Amino acid sequence: MAALSSSTALSSSSVNGLHQRIAFSSPPSFLLPQRFLSAKLSLQCRRNSHPNMVLMEDGAAVTRPTHVKNETPLNELNERLVLGTSLEESNDAAGFDMNGDESTVSITVVGASGDLAKKKIFPALFALYYEGFLPKHFTIFGYARSKMTDAELRNMVSRTLTCRIDKRENCDEKMDEFLKRCFYHSGQYDSQENFAALDKKLMAHEGGRVSNRLFYLSIPPNIFIDAVRCASSSASSGNGWTRVIVEKPFGRDSESSAAMTKSLKQYLKEDQIFRIDHYLGKELVENLSVLRFSNLIFEPLWSRQYIRNVQLIFSEDFGTEGRGGYFDHYGIIRDIMQNHLLQILALFAMETPVSLDAEDTRNEKVKVLRSMRPLRLEDVVTGQYKSHTKGGVSYPAYTDDKTVSKDSLTPTFAAAALFIDNARWDGVPFLMKAGKALHTRRTEIRVQFRHVPGNLYNRNFGTDLDRATNELVIRVQPDEAIYLKINNKVPGLGMRLDRSHLNLHYAARYSKEIPDAYERLLLDAIEGERRLFIRSDELDAAWALFTPLLKELEEKKIIPEYYPYGSRGPVGAHYLAARYNVRWGDLGVEQ
Ligand code: BG6
Repeated sequence: MAALSSSTALSSSSVNGLHQRIAFSSPPSFLLPQRFLSAKLSLQCRRNSHPNMVLMEDGAAVTRPTHVKNETPLNELNERLVLGTSLEESNDAAGFDMNGDESTVSITVVGASGDLAKKKIFPALFALYYEGFLPKHFTIFGYARSKMTDAELRNMVSRTLTCRIDKRENCDEKMDEFLKRCFYHSGQYDSQENFAALDKKLMAHEGGRVSNRLFYLSIPPNIFIDAVRCASSSASSGNGWTRVIVEKPFGRDSESSAAMTKSLKQYLKEDQIFRIDHYLGKELVENLSVLRFSNLIFEPLWSRQYIRNVQLIFSEDFGTEGRGGYFDHYGIIRDIMQNHLLQILALFAMETPVSLDAEDTRNEKVKVLRSMRPLRLEDVVTGQYKSHTKGGVSYPAYTDDKTVSKDSLTPTFAAAALFIDNARWDGVPFLMKAGKALHTRRTEIRVQFRHVPGNLYNRNFGTDLDRATNELVIRVQPDEAIYLKINNKVPGLGMRLDRSHLNLHYAARYSKEIPDAYERLLLDAIEGERRLFIRSDELDAAWALFTPLLKELEEKKIIPEYYPYGSRGPVGAHYLAARYNVRWGDLGVEQ
């Protein structure tokens, strides 16, 4: 039995009861995450004559889909209909205030003095506060072993807070208000007593309101379970929900991941565990489904019939500096491919989900993962960066890191050809490439389309028909963009064609700063929206794909191809692509 209370129906209305009421009066045709119906939209909605009318950014009015959170199952709504009690009444009976005035959210960042907490979690929480997305009553606690006062925590946190470039009004004032809501509690990660003391402090802040508690475990995986056990028995909410966010690594292979899931489930139910893959919170990754499913022109092309290959490319222009100890135990395949790139692949390739409900999307993703062909060693190339001197500056080799052994074979680069053996994708290579210490920092998805059959303009391209195919590029970061390479007539009296881009460049199109992935994911966890978090069966399927390959690489002690720091990576990656008649799109003259 899970020890933490998961309090289902109570949870999601705390932030925005209005939507629940609308949802009840008109049962949903499909479900939407709560944050899509932001505070701003609610206001617009109230100003309109129709309660479900929403103004789009371009001024068009559309009817907003009604909404029910997936924590309130439809059968529960039906029961209420039969009994004649409204959602509002039943929540009131449970002592829950629909407008959120009587509920609180307490967020505990476990491992508060770590890098992730400082650089990502606290700034993301502040951004949510600044934008008005946090509920009226909230408290943030930092929890870690080091001794620190509240003032010292605030001082530490304040150093990494920034306001959005496009919104600077009241920045200092907002920061002060936010910092006043931040507190610190020092404790061991495996101490029931220390968590019980935290519980007391949380209760004092909650002041008798319905308490909802979110624990963010920003700590190494070997102490996850201890912290969950202690939080569960000594600091979980008595009358609201309790949720726990965990970050990868979720084990090193199928076995260790399954063992971790089993231990977590001793203390938590699956719906209380929010496994973060921060790539799912990136703007353009979330946009993938919008692009596919809300534009008529893409979905019909999204199959083996028109797509020749798909490339998922991750590159960083810095090495593992400072993280060698962690990295050497995992390597690039576990660090990037098995999670970030594979998640993007699943979203890219999945069938249309029944709705936007979390379970519908996750069901489709898991089907993709389970349809993947086992990875063969010959379809994988590994590399490791070596030292390099350029312009008088010398860059270190991976093994120069003091925390890495001199004879380490851990790959800092990998390329792989993957296949999805289903009707839609049969035979289409999905090429992945991930590397550190390369020439650039970039993440992108490249979709290369087939040739135009019987192309009238062949002569313009000579024999190199590859150059004439369309390519859709989704640049996840930096400088977000979506562009489609097309063939176009160069203006003039002759007939000369060139390659041009239909370009949606985010910085030029949208003035609003793009939120950090952690903002989106934290807000979803607070709202109980699970669509962007990894379910345990997805995790199992992801490990099932990579574990045999990783074992083989390690047992056979495969030597990685060495590439100079700052280069374009091992040549082997080109041979791998060439075997499938593919050219990496990021290495061409015009990208
Ligand atoms: C993390 C990896 O998950 O993602 C790091 O462990 C990597 O090695 C990082 O640097 C990249 O994230 P982002 O958001 O900076 O692209």
